[in-house]
Amino acid sequence: MESLKNKKALVTGGSRGLGKAIALALASEGVHVVVTGRDEVKLSETVKEIEKTGVKASYAIFDVSNEEKVKESITEVIKDVGAVDILINNAGIGEFGGFLELSTERFEKIIQTNLFGPYYIMKNILPAMVEQKSGDVVNVASTAGLKGGPMTSAYTASKAGLIGLSESVMYEMRKHNIRVCTLTPSTIATDMSKDLNLTDGNPEKVLQPEDFAELVIAQLKLNKRALMTTASLFSTNP
Ligand SMILES: NC(=O)c1ccc[n+]([C@@H]2O[C@H](COP(=O)([O-])OP(=O)(O)OC[C@H]3O[C@@H](n4cnc5c(N)ncnc54)[C@H](OP(=O)(O)O)[C@@H]3O)[C@@H](O)[C@H]2O)c1
Repeated sequence: MESLKNKKALVTGGSRGLGKAIALALASEGVHVVVTGRDEVKLSETVKEIEKTGVKASYAIFDVSNEEKVKESITEVIKDVGAVDILINNAGIGEFGGFLELSTERFEKIIQTNLFGPYYIMKNILPAMVEQKSGDVVNVASTAGLKGGPMTSAYTASKAGLIGLSESVMYEMRKHNIRVCTLTPSTIATDMSKDLNLTDGNPEKVLQPEDFAELVIAQLKLNKRALMTTASLFSTNP
């Protein structure tokens, strides 16, 4: 298995939920992590928690749906820490609603955050990965992107779009030794799934953020010649 020690990772939406669990798991492998989000208080708390593991960490505040801000912030991050080895494209919003009831403004916001967000981030991170001829990108989609359902039109459209984008980028990037992986988790106990009333968070039954982080780490530690393109994660007995 590959060692992740001393690599540099950017985790979007790293202030809480899945992103925070992934950031902590990366740190415990000796990775220098940069977490991003919009809430500075939560980001700085996460950085303090990461630093307790004895590795360097920092944060960057920007809205992934704002192309200019993404560009400025990623440029700053690369100036500070150098090229990023691991990108975890995780930030996203979950919002459900009837197709006829959901406003165009909300529909656009969901697509802008969950699809254009990862697109802007990859556009700004991949050139340096191509130059260094190595890198890992993990795009966090959802089982909701694999199949439509009532009340999920915008979220499903955003995640289905991300799955298509991610797979296409994977085919273009593998020749540069860059692995692009698309993950499609089912319900995991976080603020998002609780706000959407998808789970009561019962740790005996419902997937926990740490379960997902374990999958991410296992995939990153595969031998460099091996590329896991997609994986879904479900709870065993919901
Ligand atoms: N939990 C689940 O059941 C589940 C299942 C399948 C897929 N997912 C996907 O997994 C990812 C993480 O979800 P989660 O459950 O951990 O959600 P969460 O607890 O609500 O956390 C979302 C994270 O994304 C950040 N974020 C949201 N909008 C942003 C924006 N416009 N710009 C920058 N950062 C933004 C938030 O930070 P700030 O608030 O500070 O901006 C936060 O760190 C999402 O892409 C979600 O769609 C989750």
